[in-house]
Amino acid sequence: MTHTSHVRSSAAPDEVLESVLRGLKKPEKELSPVWFYDDHGSYLFDRICELPEYYLTRTELAIMREHAPEMARHIGRGAALVELGSGTSAKTRLLLDHIDMPATYVPVDIAREYLLDAAGAIARDYPELHVIPVNADFSQPFELPIEVARASRCVVYFPGSTLGNFDRAEAASLLSRIRGMIGRHGAALIGIDLRKDAGVLRRAYNDAAGLTAAFNLNALRHLNRKLGADFDLEQFEHAAIWVEDKSRIEMHLISKRDQRVHIGHAEVTIKRGEHIRTEYSHKYTLEDFAELAESAGLRVREVWTDRNRYFSVQLLEPHTFQ
Ligand code: AVJ
Repeated sequence: MTHTSHVRSSAAPDEVLESVLRGLKKPEKELSPVWFYDDHGSYLFDRICELPEYYLTRTELAIMREHAPEMARHIGRGAALVELGSGTSAKTRLLLDHIDMPATYVPVDIAREYLLDAAGAIARDYPELHVIPVNADFSQPFELPIEVARASRCVVYFPGSTLGNFDRAEAASLLSRIRGMIGRHGAALIGIDLRKDAGVLRRAYNDAAGLTAAFNLNALRHLNRKLGADFDLEQFEHAAIWVEDKSRIEMHLISKRDQRVHIGHAEVTIKRGEHIRTEYSHKYTLEDFAELAESAGLRVREVWTDRNRYFSVQLLEPHTFQ
């Protein structure tokens, strides 16, 4: 059964506009990666996941397929599963197929139609499960439905290495918030992309078919529609840049000429060759990530990885200080 009463949208329009303008007026312009994900962007992302260069999804799915039974044993019986950035919920099915009597599934996503379609499909295929979609930006605090507290345990599922989109301080604070959601007896199952050869990374974020470029440019189309901006998509070029000392891939849009863009009543000037950073995607070593988790009061219980060590799925539990 699906409860759509919990579906709500977040953030007042003025604040959204202010934060976009703040990012675009910085000396190094930036936009939140949240702008990729309108329904069209979510569709493009799903196509990216099928690309030969984009090893992340394929590798994570293979890890899930191989180890879901063991993961489900760790999760235990009658748990509530809260998924951050649920998209099509494809990986979640692998877990749901193995968890012993899961009580509630709470997919949280910012793309509303996408969320409702996926939640509806899950509800049809798992008739015993309570499916309660929450339409929210999980990078901001949001309220969990009451049913979660009634389950035997709360497990936050955060696949896809989306945590990599947050810088260290933001990632630590999001992990602390997850720690708060799961309480003392819960757990988190998190997909984390690992550090690897820079060539492999650059290709994964600059594919030959140009889908990643279209995905990146879609952030501007989304701004045009949502905030009435007038970005000309033809005047920007996609770039994926590996930043070694920060251990992250960055996606940028580079302006092809001097231009003025209008957003609401504001005007932003962009010079030829100027960059707008739209995303960073951190790549961790296992040691780095364990340290980050510790800093948020979480301890790494299990790590599942592939034979190339390209990707990892990690089970975290609250640290119990004695
Ligand atoms: C969904 C955040 C994991 O960083 O790899 C895909 C998004 N960006 N191609 C990533 C993305 C460019 C993706 N995450």
